[in-house]
Amino acid sequence: MSDSDLFPTMDSVSLVCVTPWNASPAAVARAEALAEWFACPRVPRRRRSLARIFADEGVDGVLVAEDPPRLYHRTRPDAPYFFHPGVARPRLSALTHGVPDRLLRVAGIRPGDVIIDATLGTGADSLVLAAGAGPAGRVVAIESSFVLARLFTWAQHERGHGYPGMDRLLERIDVRWGHHADLLARMPANSVDVVYFDPMFRRPIVDEDGNIEHARPWTDPRPISDEAWHAAQRVARRCVVLKERPQSDQFARFGLTPDKPRAKIAYGVWKKGG
Ligand SMILES: C[S@@+](CC[C@H](N)C(=O)[O-])C[C@H]1O[C@@H](n2cnc3c(N)ncnc32)[C@H](O)[C@@H]1O
Repeated sequence: MSDSDLFPTMDSVSLVCVTPWNASPAAVARAEALAEWFACPRVPRRRRSLARIFADEGVDGVLVAEDPPRLYHRTRPDAPYFFHPGVARPRLSALTHGVPDRLLRVAGIRPGDVIIDATLGTGADSLVLAAGAGPAGRVVAIESSFVLARLFTWAQHERGHGYPGMDRLLERIDVRWGHHADLLARMPANSVDVVYFDPMFRRPIVDEDGNIEHARPWTDPRPISDEAWHAAQRVARRCVVLKERPQSDQFARFGLTPDKPRAKIAYGVWKKGG
């Protein structure tokens, strides 16, 4: 299987918004608002199945105005993606019980930190980073997929869809839609504490990162560029962190040592000043 089979291109994503099968007045209003939020057409549902809508409209994605809204991709019509704190919840719950989080530990996150999450994705890591940074801290989360960036900001607009404790963490996250290399290049040197990269693994890990696997058709598959890495090194006051598979050649590429060589995932940390 080639990379182009694994990763549909992101440049040509087309989307329409519909109401759910049984549309309440609230769902009709939500569909109107979502179509505007995602800058996509709202088309009549007319009791059509999703398969029918994909065929009739010739689009890559259908956004169904449920609460939370569900994104269906034509390649995965049975596996919608929607905002869900997912893998962040057990980590956040562990934190409240005083159990340290591995990412927060390796990145040395402290209360009050300003952190760039250069790869927002589902936002699970951003939520954990926001918890680590505390009320005085902030996370700037960058995402190049318009759909994923907008779905997350919709969740912020909806105050976390009622998941307990989410609204206060979402408030600490400032989402920027764009390519991280461009945004980092425009930031002053030493202007944030930590920059974190979690690029898409070239091949999915089964049973791991379930949320991001549902989001995969909407994600940008590109590896980190040299420009992005060097910009991050310039912008970070303390460190730049990379998450990858332990066997990934990206650790050697950036001169990093994976923290757990035999685990499913590993972190590598570049520290400013050695
Ligand atoms: C593995 S996911 C990140 C998962 C995330 N840490 C989480 O907790 O859900 C990688 C994300 O980075 C995004 N991405 C890839 N290249 C990017 C770039 N150049 N700029 C911004 N975002 C990028 C992808 O679209 C994808 O959503």
